[in-house]
Amino acid sequence: MGFDLPGKEWTTYIPIATTVALAIYVAWEAMRPKIGWVNPDIQKNEEKVVHTMDVEDIGEKLSICRCWRSKTFPLCDGIHKAHNKRTGDNVGPLRLKRRNVS
Ligand code: FES
Repeated sequence: MGFDLPGKEWTTYIPIATTVALAIYVAWEAMRPKIGWVNPDIQKNEEKVVHTMDVEDIGEKLSICRCWRSKTFPLCDGIHKAHNKRTGDNVGPLRLKRRNVS
């Protein structure tokens, strides 16, 4: 048992194998952000996503998104609950709270 195809049949299988390989590559590239990246789609045109806030502007409390799915990123909008339910993940926000100093 082996690959004993006549020369003309190889020319039939090469385009099929190329098409299958290309389809696998395209599917992999489409899935890669979802399976390998923490950030699926926030500011993907930037080399690095950085936000700066002044501590004085925080107010009494603030929730910072750590799931990277918030529509108000970097602030938490609660969408982590749907993400956790869908994926079985357990991410949640970083909650900042101003200490009452008298
Ligand atoms: S929306 Fe991302 S942690 Fe809440």
